[in-house]
Amino acid sequence: MKMKMILLRLLFLTSLLCSSTNQVRLVLDSSNSQFFEGTSVTLSCEEHDGSEGWTVRRNTTKRLSKCGEGWGKWSDSSCAIEFIFVQDTGVYWCESREGAASSSIQLTVSGKIRLWS
Ligand SMILES: *[C@@H]1O[C@H](CO)[C@@H](O)[C@H](O)[C@H]1NC(C)=O
Repeated sequence: MKMKMILLRLLFLTSLLCSSTNQVRLVLDSSNSQFFEGTSVTLSCEEHDGSEGWTVRRNTTKRLSKCGEGWGKWSDSSCAIEFIFVQDTGVYWCESREGAASSSIQLTVSGKIRLWS
């Protein structure tokens, strides 16, 4: 019983190691994923051997799209969003031309507190 648990744990750990070596990671320039409207946010695709052919995609309540399609500016494996809006709330990930995807991050954008409304 105990041996089985140890084996399962080892299997789990090796699968984690294997999957992290060849995969792109989506990295945020911020330690959390909750923003106020107006913040600038950069999302980067980080890979061991450069990140050729990858782009940042997202799924918001409106539609599926990629960086540069009406939001964000793509350069150097990063997608820079100068001014994030509440409507930019959604799930973001890196995807290769072949359709391979990184793990995803949920970004949540809340409106500014309006003092003079
Ligand atoms: C995008 O989001 C919608 C609504 O949450 C969901 O039904 C759909 O499967 C998502 N698409 C992808 C590719 O994640």
